Amino acid sequence: MFNDDTRKKDVKTPTIVREVWHDGQFISWDDARVHVMSHVLHYGSSVFEGIRCYKTRRGPAIFRLREHMQRFLNSAKIYRMTHPWSLEELSDASVQLVARSQLQQCYIRPIMFRSLDEEHPAFGVNPFPNPMACYIGAWDWGKYLGDEAIEQGVDVCVSSWNRLTPNSMPAMAKAGANYMNSQLIKMEAITNGYAEGIALDDRGYVSEGSGENIFLVHDGKVVTPPLASSILPGITRDSVIEICRALEIPLVESGIQRAALYVADELFFSGTAAEITPIRSVDHIPVGEARRGPVTERIQKVFFEITSGEREAPGAWLTFVGEHKRAAAENNGHNDAQAREVRKAATNASAGESRESIHVTLTD
Ligand SMILES: Cc1ncc(COP(=O)(O)O)c(C=O)c1O
Repeated sequence: MFNDDTRKKDVKTPTIVREVWHDGQFISWDDARVHVMSHVLHYGSSVFEGIRCYKTRRGPAIFRLREHMQRFLNSAKIYRMTHPWSLEELSDASVQLVARSQLQQCYIRPIMFRSLDEEHPAFGVNPFPNPMACYIGAWDWGKYLGDEAIEQGVDVCVSSWNRLTPNSMPAMAKAGANYMNSQLIKMEAITNGYAEGIALDDRGYVSEGSGENIFLVHDGKVVTPPLASSILPGITRDSVIEICRALEIPLVESGIQRAALYVADELFFSGTAAEITPIRSVDHIPVGEARRGPVTERIQKVFFEITSGEREAPGAWLTFVGEHKRAAAENNGHNDAQAREVRKAATNASAGESRESIHVTLTD
Protein backbone atom coordinates (compact mmCIF):
# COMPACT_ATOMS: atom_id res chain seq x y z
CA MET A 1 0.00 0.00 0.00
CA PHE A 2 1.25 3.50 -0.83
CA ASN A 3 2.00 5.70 2.17
CA ASP A 4 3.06 9.31 2.15
CA ASP A 5 4.84 9.49 5.51
CA THR A 6 5.26 13.27 5.47
CA ARG A 7 1.50 13.58 5.91
CA LYS A 8 1.58 11.65 9.18
CA LYS A 9 3.85 14.04 11.01
CA ASP A 10 1.24 15.50 13.36
CA VAL A 11 -0.74 12.31 13.98
CA LYS A 12 -0.35 10.86 17.46
CA THR A 13 -1.26 7.19 17.84
CA PRO A 14 -4.16 7.01 20.29
CA THR A 15 -4.75 4.27 22.85
CA ILE A 16 -7.25 1.99 21.18
CA VAL A 17 -9.89 -0.06 22.98
CA ARG A 18 -9.10 -3.60 21.85
CA GLU A 19 -12.74 -4.66 21.72
CA VAL A 20 -15.45 -3.48 19.36
CA TRP A 21 -19.20 -3.87 19.90
CA HIS A 22 -20.79 -5.56 16.91
CA ASP A 23 -24.45 -6.31 16.75
CA GLY A 24 -24.90 -7.27 20.39
CA GLN A 25 -21.50 -8.87 20.93
CA PHE A 26 -17.98 -7.78 21.75
CA ILE A 27 -15.41 -8.85 19.19
CA SER A 28 -11.71 -8.20 19.04
CA TRP A 29 -10.44 -5.02 17.33
CA ASP A 30 -8.55 -7.22 14.86
CA ASP A 31 -11.74 -8.97 13.76
CA ALA A 32 -13.70 -5.76 13.11
CA ARG A 33 -13.25 -5.79 9.32
CA VAL A 34 -15.32 -5.32 6.14
CA HIS A 35 -15.14 -6.69 2.60
CA VAL A 36 -13.61 -4.24 0.08
CA MET A 37 -16.68 -4.61 -2.13
CA SER A 38 -19.03 -3.42 0.63
CA HIS A 39 -21.56 -0.83 -0.54
CA VAL A 40 -20.30 1.71 1.99
CA LEU A 41 -16.79 1.83 0.53
CA HIS A 42 -18.03 2.64 -2.96
CA TYR A 43 -21.04 4.84 -2.32
CA GLY A 44 -20.40 6.38 1.11
CA SER A 45 -23.45 4.75 2.72
CA SER A 46 -22.69 5.15 6.40
CA VAL A 47 -23.88 7.22 9.35
CA PHE A 48 -21.90 7.62 12.52
CA GLU A 49 -21.48 9.41 15.82
CA GLY A 50 -18.66 10.83 17.92
CA ILE A 51 -19.18 10.87 21.69
CA ARG A 52 -16.80 11.79 24.48
CA CYS A 53 -16.50 10.01 27.79
CA TYR A 54 -14.92 12.15 30.52
CA LYS A 55 -12.98 11.33 33.64
CA THR A 56 -14.91 12.37 36.75
CA ARG A 57 -14.68 11.70 40.48
CA ARG A 58 -17.56 9.22 40.01
CA GLY A 59 -15.59 7.34 37.34
CA PRO A 60 -15.90 7.68 33.56
CA ALA A 61 -19.01 9.56 32.44
CA ILE A 62 -20.35 9.68 28.89
CA PHE A 63 -21.44 13.14 27.76
CA ARG A 64 -24.97 13.41 26.37
CA LEU A 65 -25.10 9.77 25.33
CA ARG A 66 -28.82 9.66 24.59
CA GLU A 67 -28.76 12.81 22.47
CA HIS A 68 -25.89 11.40 20.41
CA MET A 69 -27.67 8.08 19.96
CA GLN A 70 -30.89 9.85 19.01
CA ARG A 71 -28.99 11.80 16.34
CA PHE A 72 -27.43 8.51 15.18
CA LEU A 73 -30.91 7.00 14.77
CA ASN A 74 -32.13 10.18 13.04
CA SER A 75 -29.24 10.01 10.56
CA ALA A 76 -30.10 6.36 9.82
CA LYS A 77 -33.77 7.24 9.38
CA ILE A 78 -32.99 10.04 6.90
CA TYR A 79 -31.08 7.51 4.79
CA ARG A 80 -33.86 4.90 5.04
CA MET A 81 -31.60 2.48 6.88
CA THR A 82 -33.79 -0.24 8.33
CA HIS A 83 -32.15 -1.88 11.33
CA PRO A 84 -33.05 -3.56 14.62
CA TRP A 85 -31.02 -1.42 17.04
CA SER A 86 -32.77 0.69 19.67
CA LEU A 87 -31.65 3.81 21.52
CA GLU A 88 -31.51 1.78 24.73
CA GLU A 89 -29.45 -1.03 23.22
CA LEU A 90 -26.94 1.29 21.56
CA SER A 91 -26.60 3.38 24.73
CA ASP A 92 -26.09 0.27 26.89
CA ALA A 93 -23.54 -1.07 24.40
CA SER A 94 -21.52 2.15 24.66
CA VAL A 95 -21.58 2.02 28.45
CA GLN A 96 -20.45 -1.61 28.43
CA LEU A 97 -17.67 -0.88 25.95
CA VAL A 98 -16.25 1.87 28.15
CA ALA A 99 -16.63 -0.29 31.28
CA ARG A 100 -14.78 -3.20 29.64
CA SER A 101 -12.03 -0.89 28.34
CA GLN A 102 -11.22 0.26 31.88
CA LEU A 103 -10.31 3.65 30.39
CA GLN A 104 -11.23 6.68 32.46
CA GLN A 105 -11.81 8.81 29.38
CA CYS A 106 -12.22 8.08 25.70
CA TYR A 107 -13.96 8.93 22.45
CA ILE A 108 -16.74 6.58 21.33
CA ARG A 109 -17.47 5.99 17.64
CA PRO A 110 -20.73 4.21 16.70
CA ILE A 111 -21.05 3.52 12.96
CA MET A 112 -23.85 1.98 10.92
CA PHE A 113 -23.35 1.16 7.26
CA ARG A 114 -24.46 -0.81 4.24
CA SER A 115 -22.31 -3.86 4.02
CA LEU A 116 -22.01 -6.82 1.59
CA ASP A 117 -23.97 -10.04 1.56
CA GLU A 118 -21.26 -12.37 0.28
CA GLU A 119 -23.80 -15.10 -0.60
CA HIS A 120 -25.91 -12.67 -2.64
CA PRO A 121 -23.65 -9.75 -3.51
CA ALA A 122 -25.22 -6.54 -4.88
CA PHE A 123 -23.01 -3.88 -6.45
CA GLY A 124 -25.36 -1.19 -7.75
CA VAL A 125 -26.06 2.23 -6.28
CA ASN A 126 -29.46 0.96 -5.03
CA PRO A 127 -28.63 0.43 -1.35
CA PHE A 128 -31.66 -1.66 -0.39
CA PRO A 129 -30.30 -5.16 -1.19
CA ASN A 130 -27.29 -4.67 1.08
CA PRO A 131 -27.34 -5.78 4.73
CA MET A 132 -26.87 -3.24 7.53
CA ALA A 133 -23.97 -3.52 9.95
CA CYS A 134 -23.43 -1.66 13.19
CA TYR A 135 -20.25 -1.34 15.24
CA ILE A 136 -19.09 0.77 18.19
CA GLY A 137 -15.38 1.34 18.71
CA ALA A 138 -13.51 3.62 21.12
CA TRP A 139 -10.12 5.16 21.69
CA ASP A 140 -8.50 7.69 23.93
CA TRP A 141 -8.36 10.98 22.01
CA GLY A 142 -6.64 14.15 23.19
CA LYS A 143 -7.35 17.68 22.10
CA TYR A 144 -8.55 17.58 18.48
CA LEU A 145 -7.07 20.90 17.34
CA GLY A 146 -3.89 20.57 19.38
CA ASP A 147 -3.06 20.74 23.08
CA GLU A 148 -2.58 24.50 23.15
CA ALA A 149 -5.64 25.34 21.08
CA ILE A 150 -8.05 25.31 24.03
CA GLU A 151 -6.19 28.20 25.69
CA GLN A 152 -4.39 29.94 22.85
CA GLY A 153 -6.98 29.58 20.12
CA VAL A 154 -6.46 28.56 16.48
CA ASP A 155 -5.77 30.34 13.20
CA VAL A 156 -8.38 29.53 10.58
CA CYS A 157 -9.43 30.51 7.06
CA VAL A 158 -12.69 30.86 5.22
CA SER A 159 -12.76 27.91 2.87
CA SER A 160 -13.12 28.24 -0.87
CA TRP A 161 -15.40 25.18 -0.58
CA ASN A 162 -19.05 25.70 0.31
CA ARG A 163 -20.97 23.55 2.76
CA LEU A 164 -23.50 21.09 1.36
CA THR A 165 -26.77 22.45 0.03
CA PRO A 166 -29.75 21.22 2.05
CA ASN A 167 -31.41 19.45 -0.85
CA SER A 168 -28.29 17.69 -2.10
CA MET A 169 -26.74 16.19 1.01
CA PRO A 170 -28.59 16.85 4.27
CA ALA A 171 -26.09 18.38 6.71
CA MET A 172 -28.53 17.42 9.49
CA ALA A 173 -27.51 13.79 9.09
CA LYS A 174 -24.07 12.80 10.34
CA ALA A 175 -23.33 10.73 7.26
CA GLY A 176 -19.90 9.47 6.27
CA ALA A 177 -20.37 10.91 2.76
CA ASN A 178 -20.72 14.47 4.15
CA TYR A 179 -17.15 14.21 5.30
CA MET A 180 -15.83 14.27 1.74
CA ASN A 181 -16.90 17.92 1.81
CA SER A 182 -15.30 18.28 5.26
CA GLN A 183 -12.09 16.75 3.94
CA LEU A 184 -11.89 19.29 1.11
CA ILE A 185 -12.28 22.09 3.66
CA LYS A 186 -9.77 20.55 6.07
CA MET A 187 -7.13 19.70 3.44
CA GLU A 188 -7.25 23.19 1.96
CA ALA A 189 -6.86 24.72 5.43
CA ILE A 190 -3.94 22.49 6.45
CA THR A 191 -2.17 22.86 3.11
CA ASN A 192 -2.31 26.64 3.54
CA GLY A 193 -1.03 26.53 7.11
CA TYR A 194 -4.31 26.95 9.02
CA ALA A 195 -5.65 24.65 11.74
CA GLU A 196 -9.18 24.61 10.33
CA GLY A 197 -11.45 26.03 7.63
CA ILE A 198 -14.84 27.70 7.99
CA ALA A 199 -17.27 26.90 5.21
CA LEU A 200 -19.98 29.24 3.96
CA ASP A 201 -23.37 27.88 2.94
CA ASP A 202 -24.54 28.00 -0.67
CA ARG A 203 -25.92 31.56 -0.15
CA GLY A 204 -22.62 32.86 1.22
CA TYR A 205 -23.56 32.89 4.91
CA VAL A 206 -21.29 31.37 7.54
CA SER A 207 -22.09 27.68 8.07
CA GLU A 208 -19.57 25.72 10.18
CA GLY A 209 -16.06 24.27 10.39
CA SER A 210 -15.15 20.94 8.80
CA GLY A 211 -16.01 19.20 12.06
CA GLU A 212 -17.28 21.94 14.39
CA ASN A 213 -20.09 24.45 14.82
CA ILE A 214 -19.16 28.10 15.16
CA PHE A 215 -20.10 30.90 17.57
CA LEU A 216 -19.46 34.64 17.31
CA VAL A 217 -19.43 37.12 20.20
CA HIS A 218 -20.22 40.78 19.54
CA ASP A 219 -21.07 43.45 22.12
CA GLY A 220 -21.60 40.78 24.76
CA LYS A 221 -24.10 38.90 22.60
CA VAL A 222 -23.45 35.36 21.31
CA VAL A 223 -24.55 34.54 17.74
CA THR A 224 -24.53 31.16 15.99
CA PRO A 225 -25.78 30.15 12.51
CA PRO A 226 -29.19 28.45 12.40
CA LEU A 227 -29.86 24.96 11.03
CA ALA A 228 -30.91 26.69 7.78
CA SER A 229 -27.21 27.48 7.19
CA SER A 230 -26.55 23.78 6.46
CA ILE A 231 -25.04 22.91 9.80
CA LEU A 232 -24.93 19.68 11.73
CA PRO A 233 -27.19 20.10 14.79
CA GLY A 234 -24.26 19.81 17.16
CA ILE A 235 -24.74 18.40 20.62
CA THR A 236 -21.97 20.66 21.92
CA ARG A 237 -23.66 23.59 20.15
CA ASP A 238 -26.84 22.75 22.03
CA SER A 239 -24.83 22.54 25.26
CA VAL A 240 -23.32 26.00 24.62
CA ILE A 241 -26.81 27.41 24.01
CA GLU A 242 -28.00 25.92 27.31
CA ILE A 243 -24.92 27.18 29.16
CA CYS A 244 -25.50 30.72 27.78
CA ARG A 245 -29.10 30.48 28.96
CA ALA A 246 -27.95 29.41 32.44
CA LEU A 247 -25.35 32.20 32.57
CA GLU A 248 -27.87 34.73 31.22
CA ILE A 249 -25.64 35.55 28.26
CA PRO A 250 -27.85 36.73 25.38
CA LEU A 251 -27.75 34.30 22.45
CA VAL A 252 -29.36 34.37 19.01
CA GLU A 253 -29.38 31.96 16.09
CA SER A 254 -28.96 34.12 13.02
CA GLY A 255 -27.44 34.22 9.53
CA ILE A 256 -23.87 35.53 9.74
CA GLN A 257 -22.09 37.34 6.91
CA ARG A 258 -18.50 36.33 6.21
CA ALA A 259 -17.33 39.89 6.99
CA ALA A 260 -18.84 39.64 10.49
CA LEU A 261 -16.16 37.06 11.27
CA TYR A 262 -13.45 39.68 10.73
CA VAL A 263 -14.99 42.28 13.05
CA ALA A 264 -16.22 39.95 15.81
CA ASP A 265 -14.99 40.51 19.36
CA GLU A 266 -14.59 36.74 19.82
CA LEU A 267 -15.11 33.55 17.84
CA PHE A 268 -15.06 29.95 18.95
CA PHE A 269 -15.73 26.45 17.64
CA SER A 270 -17.84 23.85 19.43
CA GLY A 271 -17.76 20.11 18.82
CA THR A 272 -17.33 16.78 20.54
CA ALA A 273 -13.77 16.42 19.30
CA ALA A 274 -12.84 20.15 19.40
CA GLU A 275 -14.87 20.80 22.60
CA ILE A 276 -14.78 24.61 22.94
CA THR A 277 -11.86 26.01 20.97
CA PRO A 278 -11.26 29.76 20.59
CA ILE A 279 -10.43 31.17 17.15
CA ARG A 280 -7.74 33.84 17.23
CA SER A 281 -7.56 34.81 13.56
CA VAL A 282 -9.52 34.36 10.34
CA ASP A 283 -7.67 34.73 7.03
CA HIS A 284 -4.79 36.32 8.99
CA ILE A 285 -7.11 39.00 10.40
CA PRO A 286 -6.90 38.97 14.22
CA VAL A 287 -10.14 38.27 16.03
CA GLY A 288 -10.51 40.80 18.90
CA GLU A 289 -7.29 40.70 20.88
CA ALA A 290 -6.09 37.64 18.92
CA ARG A 291 -6.50 35.38 21.94
CA ARG A 292 -9.26 33.66 23.90
CA GLY A 293 -11.84 36.30 24.83
CA PRO A 294 -13.64 36.63 28.19
CA VAL A 295 -17.03 35.33 27.05
CA THR A 296 -15.46 32.28 25.38
CA GLU A 297 -13.43 31.63 28.52
CA ARG A 298 -16.52 31.82 30.74
CA ILE A 299 -18.51 29.41 28.59
CA GLN A 300 -15.52 27.08 28.18
CA LYS A 301 -14.92 27.01 31.95
CA VAL A 302 -18.53 26.05 32.69
CA PHE A 303 -18.46 23.44 29.91
CA PHE A 304 -15.38 21.74 31.35
CA GLU A 305 -16.76 21.95 34.90
CA ILE A 306 -19.88 20.15 33.69
CA THR A 307 -18.02 17.50 31.69
CA SER A 308 -15.73 16.78 34.62
CA GLY A 309 -18.77 16.33 36.87
CA GLU A 310 -17.80 19.27 39.09
CA ARG A 311 -20.80 21.40 38.21
CA GLU A 312 -24.46 20.56 37.87
CA ALA A 313 -25.52 20.34 34.23
CA PRO A 314 -28.72 21.99 33.00
CA GLY A 315 -30.01 18.49 32.16
CA ALA A 316 -29.20 14.78 32.45
CA TRP A 317 -25.99 15.18 30.50
CA LEU A 318 -23.68 12.63 32.12
CA THR A 319 -24.05 8.86 32.10
CA PHE A 320 -21.85 7.48 34.86
CA VAL A 321 -20.46 4.26 33.47
CA GLY A 322 -19.88 2.40 36.77
CA GLU A 323 -23.29 3.21 38.15
CA HIS A 324 -25.06 2.43 34.89
CA LYS A 325 -23.27 -0.93 34.66
CA ARG A 326 -24.22 -1.86 38.23
CA ALA A 327 -27.80 -0.93 37.41
CA ALA A 328 -27.71 -3.18 34.37
CA ALA A 329 -26.33 -6.07 36.47
CA GLU A 330 -29.09 -5.59 39.04
CA ASN A 331 -31.49 -5.72 36.16
CA ASN A 332 -31.19 -9.53 36.11
CA GLY A 333 -34.33 -10.60 37.91
CA HIS A 334 -36.10 -7.23 37.64
CA ASN A 335 -38.61 -6.28 35.03
CA ASP A 336 -37.84 -3.81 32.25
CA ALA A 337 -39.67 -0.90 33.84
CA GLN A 338 -37.69 -1.27 37.08
CA ALA A 339 -34.44 -1.58 35.16
CA ARG A 340 -35.22 1.57 33.23
CA GLU A 341 -35.78 3.46 36.49
CA VAL A 342 -32.42 2.31 37.90
CA ARG A 343 -30.64 3.22 34.68
CA LYS A 344 -32.30 6.62 34.65
CA ALA A 345 -30.83 7.33 38.07
CA ALA A 346 -27.35 6.53 36.76
CA THR A 347 -27.87 8.72 33.73
CA ASN A 348 -28.08 12.00 35.49
CA ALA A 349 -26.40 15.29 36.03
CA SER A 350 -23.75 15.49 38.74
CA ALA A 351 -26.28 16.27 41.42
CA GLY A 352 -29.74 17.51 42.18
CA GLU A 353 -32.84 17.85 40.10
CA SER A 354 -32.60 17.37 36.39
CA ARG A 355 -35.09 18.14 33.71
CA GLU A 356 -35.75 16.16 30.57
CA SER A 357 -32.85 16.16 28.16
CA ILE A 358 -32.83 18.83 25.52
CA HIS A 359 -33.79 17.80 22.05
CA VAL A 360 -32.03 19.11 19.01
CA THR A 361 -34.14 21.88 17.51
CA LEU A 362 -35.21 21.02 14.00
CA THR A 363 -36.33 24.50 13.04
CA ASP A 364 -34.90 27.96 13.49
C1 LIG B 1 -19.57 18.99 10.42
C2 LIG B 1 -19.72 19.02 11.90
N1 LIG B 1 -20.33 20.08 12.47
C3 LIG B 1 -20.49 20.17 13.80
C4 LIG B 1 -19.99 19.19 14.64
C5 LIG B 1 -20.18 19.31 16.12
O1 LIG B 1 -21.18 18.43 16.55
P1 LIG B 1 -21.13 17.79 18.00
O2 LIG B 1 -21.05 18.94 18.95
O3 LIG B 1 -22.40 17.05 18.13
O4 LIG B 1 -19.94 16.93 18.07
C6 LIG B 1 -19.32 18.09 14.11
C7 LIG B 1 -18.80 17.02 14.96
O5 LIG B 1 -19.42 16.05 15.18
C8 LIG B 1 -19.19 18.00 12.70
O6 LIG B 1 -18.56 16.96 12.15
